[in-house]
Parts: sequence; structure tokens; C-alpha cells
Amino acid sequence: MQIIMKAKYLIITMALLALACSLTSAYDPSPLQDFCVAVKDPASALFVNGKFCKDPKLASANDFFLSGLNIPRDTSNPLGSNVTAVNVDNLAGLNTLGVSLARVDFAPYGLNPPHTHPRGTELFIVLEGTLYAGFVTSDGDAGNRLFTKMLYPGDVFVFPFGLIHFQLNVGKTKAVAFASFSSQNPGLITIANAVFGSDPKINPDVLTKAFQVDKKLVEYLQKQIWLSNS
Ligand code: GLV
Ligand code: MN
Repeated sequence: MQIIMKAKYLIITMALLALACSLTSAYDPSPLQDFCVAVKDPASALFVNGKFCKDPKLASANDFFLSGLNIPRDTSNPLGSNVTAVNVDNLAGLNTLGVSLARVDFAPYGLNPPHTHPRGTELFIVLEGTLYAGFVTSDGDAGNRLFTKMLYPGDVFVFPFGLIHFQLNVGKTKAVAFASFSSQNPGLITIANAVFGSDPKINPDVLTKAFQVDKKLVEYLQKQIWLSNS
């Protein structure tokens, strides 16, 4: 009898744990329905597969449509680049579908600085201009190898899941590219911003030792304003 009670408690505890995990974890799932157009107002929503979705009967073509990505973006910032994301915030029909997109504009010599996407692989397609692009492999056997390529209109380059990458416009003219991601929310960590511009600041002793430089240089870098281009 006691064994049966214990088994019961164990099953209930495991079920509660599984429920807690399903409520707190978030991963691009395989959809269990055709789509789940994201809605902000739960009053007009159905609860499907753990998400508030627009009632499919109320969905329309506009939920899957966005225009204006042909319009050049303002690149007059210190980096000389501008990333326009297309994700569930501006295209609600993307919700749960596991993909997203960005338009990337570069001024002459503009840079999309070293960054990673912690939740996605990126497929990068150049439409205009000449870009020097690269990524670095993780520590370990392959040991931080740098892969680079000069990219021209029509060229495609892949930045694998989570690896640090960058693009520099090496031409005298502007450049335009599009990036697609294997996640509806690939995330972004811009290396310089995260390391030197965190809030609160990382103790400079940590960065002085990590980078093996003078502490004054670290303090100088931590005083800079680390801008985002997106
Ligand atoms: C390019 O690498 C981008 O993430 O927009
Ligand atoms: Mn990227």
C-alpha cells in the first residue's frame, strides 16, 4: 500500500515538473496547426499549443504580410549600418513558424559588428555592394578558426548557429543584404556591447585579465557608448 502511495506521489511530482517545464521553456516548436497568428489581446484569442493565437477563422492575408523592405534604411550612425528585423513583432503570422528575416543596409565602409545569434543559423544574401564577411568557430578541436569570404551581389554565406560573425562594406558605395534565420527569435549578442557596455559593468579586473591588457584601456572602453544598429 505504502509503495503504491509513494509511486502515486512520484508520478504527481513528475507530472507537475513536466507542466512547470512546459510553461517556462520556450523553443521554436513544430506547429500543431497551420499557423498561430500572435495576438496581444487574449479576448480575441484561442489557446493553442501553449500560445495565444488569433482564432484561425479571423486570420487574414494581412496577418502574413509586411511591406516596405525595399526602402533603404538610415545608416548615418558610427557603425554605418542598420539592421531591420522582420519578426513576430511586425509580422504576427510568423509566430511559432521557426523563421525570421532582416534587411541589412551598409553605408560605404559601414560595419555590422561582430555578434552572435544564440538561437539561430543565419543565411545571408547580398543584393548590392561588396562585403567582407566572416565567422569564427568555437574553442576546442577546430580552435577559433576564422572563415571569411568576399561577397558580391547574388552571393550567399551561412553563419552557423551561435558563432560570432560580422560583415564589412569594403566598397565605396552602399551595400544591401538580406538575412534569414532558422528561428522566429534568433536573439542578438553584439560582442563589444555585451563585454564593455553591460549594465552594471563587469568588474574591470575581470576584463583586464581576460584580455591581458592595461586596466586603463578596459576602463576607457567601458566608458564608451556602445550603440546598437538594430
Ligand atoms: C547579420 O549578420 C544580421 O544578423 O543581420
Ligand atoms: Mn547576424
